[in-house]
Amino acid sequence: MKILITGIDGQLGNQLKESSLKGVKIIGLKRKQFNLLDNDHCKKTILELKPDWIINAAAFTAVDSAEKEIKKTFDINAKAVETLAKTISSYGGRLLQISTDFVFDGSKKTPYLPTDKCNPINVYGASKLQGENLSLKYPGTLILRTSWLYGPSGNNFCLKMLNLHNNAAKQSKIIRVVNDQIGSPTDTIQLSKICWELIKKQSNNEINERIFHWSNRGIISWYDFAVSIGKYAEEYGLIEKAGSVKSISSLDYKTIAKRPAFSVLNCNNTEKFLNIKQIDWVEALKSNLRIYAQRKLGK
Ligand SMILES: NC(=O)c1ccc[n+]([C@@H]2O[C@H](COP(=O)([O-])OP(=O)(O)OC[C@H]3O[C@@H](n4cnc5c(N)ncnc54)[C@H](OP(=O)(O)O)[C@@H]3O)[C@@H](O)[C@H]2O)c1
Repeated sequence: MKILITGIDGQLGNQLKESSLKGVKIIGLKRKQFNLLDNDHCKKTILELKPDWIINAAAFTAVDSAEKEIKKTFDINAKAVETLAKTISSYGGRLLQISTDFVFDGSKKTPYLPTDKCNPINVYGASKLQGENLSLKYPGTLILRTSWLYGPSGNNFCLKMLNLHNNAAKQSKIIRVVNDQIGSPTDTIQLSKICWELIKKQSNNEINERIFHWSNRGIISWYDFAVSIGKYAEEYGLIEKAGSVKSISSLDYKTIAKRPAFSVLNCNNTEKFLNIKQIDWVEALKSNLRIYAQRKLGK
């Protein structure tokens, strides 16, 4: 089986490359080899390489910049996704499109089901939802929504927080983190496993559903996440001492884009279809920090 992975240098793309299935040939493409803003080139490349699957791990992920770069965001997160789906389905190939909890508005009080109504409240979420809808017109497209993605490499909250803890403790500063945005972190190692399992199952045509959810288990705030990152980073010797974290409200931390107040994904259908249990967010965090420590400190 041949699988084209877009955004191979992103945090998920990178982990997919490291964790692939046996017997799978991976073609991992960087932005300069496969630019989602160049639809003709993407189409030509797909038809030349004829992958069985594309995992689209590339996206315009800068949520605040998206509010200003609206056309570019929709071109990458929606228009290009349709090109991928249309082109690969023209010869019976399939697309696994990675999507986001930000397709929801956050007004629900219980975890979002794949069938719940979408109502994005920012440009990034709207562009990702349009990418879902446009690609679902073509047979063979699966959508995998995830939330609060982080891993042992890349640009993510966990690694940013690690730096902040390090500096805050040294300079006796306080880290302010919002406590009123509630969600579930997802580590790229677990998410990559789900991508591979979905591909295995769907290659045997075992799945009728088209939209899946995946995150680690647990419902927390960014504040809870920040405190735990400091605690376990200190335990694993990644930082000398965790900094002090102050819980603040979103009103005291203005961002350009609005964020949903509650974006927990209900992952029951994915657990059932794949016969895999979600991993508790603390266990996932500890295991990711251990990997990071091994790489950084050779421990
Ligand atoms: N991060 C989260 O918290 C989160 C939450 C929910 C869902 N998701 C979704 O999960 C997926 C993976 O996210 P991630 O966090 O791994 O993203 P990431 O680390 O920001 O990586 C995104 C990748 O997309 C590439 N890219 C951007 N513009 C491109 C273009 N025009 N053409 C081709 N490639 C382009 C980037 O290339 P460069 O390396 O050249 O910049 C980068 O490699 C995305 O679909 C995202 O929407 C993410």
